[in-house]
Amino acid sequence: MNVDVSPLRRQEILVQAALMLASELPLAALLQRIVELAAEIGGARYAALGVLSSDGEVIREFLTVGVNPPMTSFLGVPIAVRGKVFGNLYLTEKIAAEEFTAEDEDALVKLAAQAGIAIEFTRAQEMLRRLALAEDRERIAKELHDDVIQSLFAEGMALQAALGMVNDPSAITARLESSIEHIDRVIRDLRNYIFALQPGAAADRQLDRSLRDLAGDFASSGMRIDVHTDDLVVSLLAGKTQDIVQFAREAISNAVRHSEAKQVNVSLLASGDAALLEVSDDGIGFDVEHAEGRGHGLANLRARAEALGGEPEIESQPNAGTWVRVRIPL
Ligand SMILES: Nc1ncnc2c1ncn2[C@@H]1O[C@H](COP(=O)(O)OP(=O)(O)OP(=O)(O)O)[C@@H](O)[C@H]1O
Ligand SMILES: [Mg+2]
Repeated sequence: MNVDVSPLRRQEILVQAALMLASELPLAALLQRIVELAAEIGGARYAALGVLSSDGEVIREFLTVGVNPPMTSFLGVPIAVRGKVFGNLYLTEKIAAEEFTAEDEDALVKLAAQAGIAIEFTRAQEMLRRLALAEDRERIAKELHDDVIQSLFAEGMALQAALGMVNDPSAITARLESSIEHIDRVIRDLRNYIFALQPGAAADRQLDRSLRDLAGDFASSGMRIDVHTDDLVVSLLAGKTQDIVQFAREAISNAVRHSEAKQVNVSLLASGDAALLEVSDDGIGFDVEHAEGRGHGLANLRARAEALGGEPEIESQPNAGTWVRVRIPL
């Protein structure tokens, strides 16, 4: 029986590879997807992508599918991006045969070409995003300088002039009243300005800020709570802020109240083609199987995880700590 990858399946995989362009995956997730498709298109048990440093001298990153290859059969193909080797795709352990065939190599070369285009596209997009952010910052700085700072500066001068009016209380009163009115107006303008920014860059950062504020809410616990986020993941998940923050709140609150930990870590990072939200502590741990039903927290975690399109995973080890996670599809 021939269990090798069929030509039709290979075509489908190449189409999928072409569609990666439209997927808007972050680069890390894209690279992992490429390795998975490589393993599939070559019918290999194990695949890896060695990403080279920009000078091409060393492997900067090594992404894999499968584990511990015995290395009986081997195939390697470079991925070029803008005419430079970005990295190398490796396949080992052909599933259906002793060795990889010319067809396998041909298919992998085609996949590598698609991968090169998708990587170039993704990098260009990430760069554009950063540029847009930088431009936004510059514009905001300029507008704040021109409007708010200038206004307040002028007001400061006027108040200073009021100091010379000590002999005329009614003039001072009039001066102060006009200043208060002006400062109120500046505050109103500033507030409107900040609101107007919301749908743009500020909204992108809102999830990140909410998670940091959340950690701040627990500061009085005396535990160290660190937050790590990936910019791109955070902007992609901006619409899910509420559920993400509530999931994290429930898990942090458990860590703070029950774990006796020194350190709590909250992270929202890319993982494969999804985002991984994780709250971990280095505390006493607990028996997960018998804990559900003791309070509402674990049930709330489940409801929030479902709203996020995943399910909660809780891992706990006595005197080592607890890891609460949910994978959120991007
Ligand atoms: N990070 C943790 N470290 C140690 N024990 C934990 C941790 N998280 C949960 N537990 C244990 O699991 C139990 C159930 O947690 P759950 O959040 O469902 O309830 P609760 O925190 O007791 O009450 P509630 O969340 O309703 O205020 C807790 O009572 C605690 O014993
Ligand atoms: Mg709880």
